[in-house]
Amino acid sequence: MRIYVADTEDEMAYHAAGVISDRLIKYPDTTLGLATGGTMIGPYRYLVQMYERGIISFKSVVTFNLDEYVGIEASHPASFHHFMYEHLFEHIDILPQNVHIPDGMANDIQAECKRYDCAIKEHGGIDLQILGIGLNGHIGFNEPGTPFGTTTHVVDLTETTRAANARFFGSVEDVPKQAVTMGIKNIMQSRSIILMASGEAKADIIAKALTGPVTQRVPASVLQLHPQLTVILDRQAASSMPKDYFDCSFVA
Ligand code: PGA
Repeated sequence: MRIYVADTEDEMAYHAAGVISDRLIKYPDTTLGLATGGTMIGPYRYLVQMYERGIISFKSVVTFNLDEYVGIEASHPASFHHFMYEHLFEHIDILPQNVHIPDGMANDIQAECKRYDCAIKEHGGIDLQILGIGLNGHIGFNEPGTPFGTTTHVVDLTETTRAANARFFGSVEDVPKQAVTMGIKNIMQSRSIILMASGEAKADIIAKALTGPVTQRVPASVLQLHPQLTVILDRQAASSMPKDYFDCSFVA
């Protein structure tokens, strides 16, 4: 695990975009695993800037998003489809057929989960997966208690998660109760992973996930077992890490 602690959230975002763009410059046909949420807005803004300046192109990039709510249209302003187009896809040269996001409106949602797993496999797996972390330690929508062996599946969202996402819907009652998410196995099969977090509210869960026991109660703790994990935090999100943790860890 490599950890980079940035002074500010903006520097965290810039550093994450730098890691992603380095990869795209070296391997233009990268398959990216993408995430949504407030943490991702900064990195996507920097990627758009790099594209506009001609530094990177997404023409040969394939993307797979982690998750989508069940039962809301792609055009809904709080859908993850909408988020991705608003913050990234609308502004870059990615080919529409290379964008993959689970279809939360599929008639047969179980078949949709299978289709998604197959699509990831057919594209040779994910090269670089980008992750945020929920206040309860979820990655994607893999809530506490999710077995580590899961592939794409339907989840019941916890109240913590629905409350945290109410800001995108106006009220907690409007937040869907279910979502489709890549499973922990899909995430762990990615060849490399970037985990990002900012702000004091994430400090405790980051410390638990990175230095506590690897347990299904803290889904992100499984990432400790990934051989190519880069963690990018701001100072606040890193503030509950044990004091001696960085003595022998790589901190850029
Ligand atoms: P956030 O969400 O970036 O909006 O904090 C992260 C997550 O729930 O995975």
